[in-house]
Amino acid sequence: MKFFVDTADTTEIRPLAASGLLDGVTTNPSLVAKTGKKFLDVLADICAIVPGPVSAEVAATDYDGMLAEARVLREVAKNVTIKVPLTPDGLRACRHLRDEGTMVNVTLCFSAAQAILAAKAGASFVSPFVGRLDDIGEHGMGLIADIVQIYRNYPAFETEVLVASVRSPMHVVQAGQIGAHVVTVPPAILRSLFNHPLTEKGLAAFLADWAKTGQKIA
Ligand code: E4P
Repeated sequence: MKFFVDTADTTEIRPLAASGLLDGVTTNPSLVAKTGKKFLDVLADICAIVPGPVSAEVAATDYDGMLAEARVLREVAKNVTIKVPLTPDGLRACRHLRDEGTMVNVTLCFSAAQAILAAKAGASFVSPFVGRLDDIGEHGMGLIADIVQIYRNYPAFETEVLVASVRSPMHVVQAGQIGAHVVTVPPAILRSLFNHPLTEKGLAAFLADWAKTGQKIA
């Protein structure tokens, strides 16, 4: 199971990358806007920190515009993954970019039918947004289960299911239970995965007992 972090904030990305647990990064226009910095600068900084795929989303909505922007973005670093929306033009751009050997993440996926189209377009990743489906009373993780099952029926599909719009540690656990390839997690939720009260309590007890011995290991 690959872990991506869902942020454009390098102050958040750097320590997570140092943990050795990070396989990639996803950004989107909203996350880039939050940084207040120039997109290409932010993208270059992130790609220098994380060697795995770094998703950079196009802002154009037409095929030619997406390709023009993708050509600029992929020049920034070898690990840039172009993110395109799940629209007819987006999937056409996906096919074209994949034929040129560029990694593509098809984003804003909300149905299994859309995920089939993304795989047919040769996407490297498809991003179903589980939290936004939960927000409108639908079952986000149910969609992940459907897509993973469908993709398993067709070994020729090379698209990885990238669970996006993650809102809780349980989304991460359920993604693992289903067998999704990748989960992209906001930094705070990623850090919260470490937490368990029994770990803290157990460590405190061990350290207290160890102190009583008066010994040092190194
Ligand atoms: C995925 O690539 C998106 O950046 C992200 O997961 C969207 O999450 P949100 O619904 O919390 O904005």
